[in-house]
Amino acid sequence: MSKLLKISKKIGSFDKKINVSGDKSLSIRWVLLASQAIGRSKAYNLLMSEDVIAAIHSIKKLGIKVKIHKNYCEVYGNGINGFKYKNNLTIDAGNSGTLGRLILGLLIKSPKKIKLIGDRSLSKRDFSRVTIPLEKFGAKFYYKTKNRLPLSILGKKSVKGINYLENKGSAQCKSSVMLGALNASGTTSIKAKKSRNHSELLFNYLKIPIKIKKSKKYDFIDIKQPKKIKAFNYQIPGDISSSAFFIVLTILTKDSRLIIKNVNINPSRIGVIKILKKMGAKISFKNQRDYRGEKISDILIKNTNKLKSINCPRELNSSAIDEFLIIFLIAAKAKGISYFRDISELNQKESPRLDWGSKILNMMGVKTRLTKNSIKIYGQPDLEIKKPIIIKDYLKDHRIFMMSTIAALTCGGEWKIHDKDSINSSFPSFLKIIKEIKGKPL
Ligand code: S3P
Repeated sequence: MSKLLKISKKIGSFDKKINVSGDKSLSIRWVLLASQAIGRSKAYNLLMSEDVIAAIHSIKKLGIKVKIHKNYCEVYGNGINGFKYKNNLTIDAGNSGTLGRLILGLLIKSPKKIKLIGDRSLSKRDFSRVTIPLEKFGAKFYYKTKNRLPLSILGKKSVKGINYLENKGSAQCKSSVMLGALNASGTTSIKAKKSRNHSELLFNYLKIPIKIKKSKKYDFIDIKQPKKIKAFNYQIPGDISSSAFFIVLTILTKDSRLIIKNVNINPSRIGVIKILKKMGAKISFKNQRDYRGEKISDILIKNTNKLKSINCPRELNSSAIDEFLIIFLIAAKAKGISYFRDISELNQKESPRLDWGSKILNMMGVKTRLTKNSIKIYGQPDLEIKKPIIIKDYLKDHRIFMMSTIAALTCGGEWKIHDKDSINSSFPSFLKIIKEIKGKPL
């Protein structure tokens, strides 16, 4: 199958109902936590993307039995620190920063060295952000190239709780230390800048002793080592980050309407909805319900041609961290100049996303002003793309592929988007759903 996607026509109006696949953050967390529980846990609607499959392969290598069925996945956990494995083990986190960073928290007591590797994109990303705090537990890390994969971890026999200040607003760093806390006697205390709180909600549901106090900017999290974790079943809701691409597709497509069923609208994840609404988008939640601390809803989106620019409040950055590329596309079609600040973290993702966002808008003929941590976007409501656009060599960042596809379908022009398979890391059914919405293949 060709890896090149060519688009030369805008999508026509639609009125559809879709489901998106399971939430990636929750899927990876479920796999890792189920491996620490005792006995059989089941997950329904687990995201079957490369990142989650890498998580499954990793725990299998660590001696955990996993069975994948048509509609669910079973993990037979071996208890906390119950991994069993041979000498010279290598774990491959593939493209997944979340897996690579979180799994290290579970290995801080490993008696044998374990090597962690990743793909080209992951090997460019910083790991000191988790190895520095995990060293406080006594684990040792060995790098070939400073702070980059591959690395090896050697655990410590007896581990005590630590104090940790997480100051980037990174849920991966916070969660890595939280998983470390499962192995540490006494209390681990984390002061963490606000970020997605799925780990906290799961700990709470699993009755792992966790206390959380909240201030405006920070959460203060105390975790005591649990005696054990009971096996648990979980129904993974739809991913808001995957939904965001279809939300923007609908906003920008004349006379269109879309309902996305069963999406996780955890308040720490819906910055994208708040930002798009401030820009004039018509989005509403229908049939809201609670599920084990998470909030789930159907999302109704309607097209509008009255989009206005935004001076994006910094407080929304962390809850929209994975959605900025697609938000930039709305800014490109909005009236006025939009401004996004304090977003240098975007350049720490699967690709330097802030730079790439700007580059793609420039190729589309949209003016931007870019710094290391901010971007101004000069919106053009009547944007017509004049030159052919080729998207390639983007480290196969799945969100760049999806943003480019949505841009091509809504702004016109002749697009050649390389490396179709990049979507497999988070959202293998992305193009299938586009086809469902469109009614015919691309
Ligand atoms: C994630 C946290 C975020 C996000 C990533 C998933 C998680 O990364 O970008 O896609 O599941 O914890 P950071 O913690 O680096 O912000």
